[in-house]
Amino acid sequence: MAASSWALVTGGAQRIGAFINRRLARAGYNIVLHYHRSETAALALKKELEQHQVEVVMWQANLAEPQALPRGFQTLHGRVPHLDLLINNASIFEQGTLFGSSLAQIRAHMDVHLTSPWLLIQEMMKLGTGQPGQIINILDANLAHRYTGKSAYFIAKKALETLTELAAIECAPKIRVNGIAPGFVLEAIDAVAGGPEPEDINLLQRKVPLDDLYSAIEFLLANHSITGQTIAIDGGSHLKCPPYMLKN
Ligand SMILES: NC(=O)c1ccc[n+]([C@@H]2O[C@H](COP(=O)([O-])OP(=O)(O)OC[C@H]3O[C@@H](n4cnc5c(N)ncnc54)[C@H](OP(=O)(O)O)[C@@H]3O)[C@@H](O)[C@H]2O)c1
Repeated sequence: MAASSWALVTGGAQRIGAFINRRLARAGYNIVLHYHRSETAALALKKELEQHQVEVVMWQANLAEPQALPRGFQTLHGRVPHLDLLINNASIFEQGTLFGSSLAQIRAHMDVHLTSPWLLIQEMMKLGTGQPGQIINILDANLAHRYTGKSAYFIAKKALETLTELAAIECAPKIRVNGIAPGFVLEAIDAVAGGPEPEDINLLQRKVPLDDLYSAIEFLLANHSITGQTIAIDGGSHLKCPPYMLKN
């Protein structure tokens, strides 16, 4: 990685996104710190990341309003010379069966998981990269199962999976595009207290540690021959629908 490399992790102020940003800053990446509502957390994280002697540019954007993104990109131009790594991580994860999902819910899930990542990929191609670039889309290992409890989420993530493959074709040879499909890493924000029993989580009976998730990112960053692939980091939950999924 060049000393001047820039990374953008969407939804990067909290939880998994913030963890990835911390690791990237520690590895020397300058960071475009994207957030939607978490301004306080983003400001605190900015200070923390700057301790690694990297540049941090804050970027507030609602990815459920993709029509506003081109204006948002203008604010980045001039401040960010190029983008070397884009991680499409931002997500909403709402309950709703196929029949029970509202139009607003369907649109928001599609915009956050598909339309905005698509526009961001186009923007990255325009901005250019300082070196061969990389895009990593955060998917979900449980896309392997036909689970209807969160239909808008799963259908939108499935579309992001297809975008990953098509973008790998169109972005080559300048940019490699891959997916990471986590299993159970963190409780959902709206999870009820208690959490699942270990045997309910996945075949390996433990949550996926954040370190394991990041080590897959490091692997993709270091391996220059992989594009259009998705790696499941999930304790085997893509093989067998974990019982906790069926309970919520
Ligand atoms: N947690 C898990 O165990 C798990 C399992 C499988 C897959 N994943 C995937 O891993 C990724 C990270 O998971 P997570 O649990 O850390 O995600 P999360 O907390 O549910 O969401 C991450 C961020 O997405 C941002 N976001 C939501 N709506 C947005 C919008 N309209 N515009 C812009 N940003 C928006 C939020 O930013 P603000 O806070 O700034 O509003 C939020 O902090 C997601 O893609 C998720 O699907 C996670």
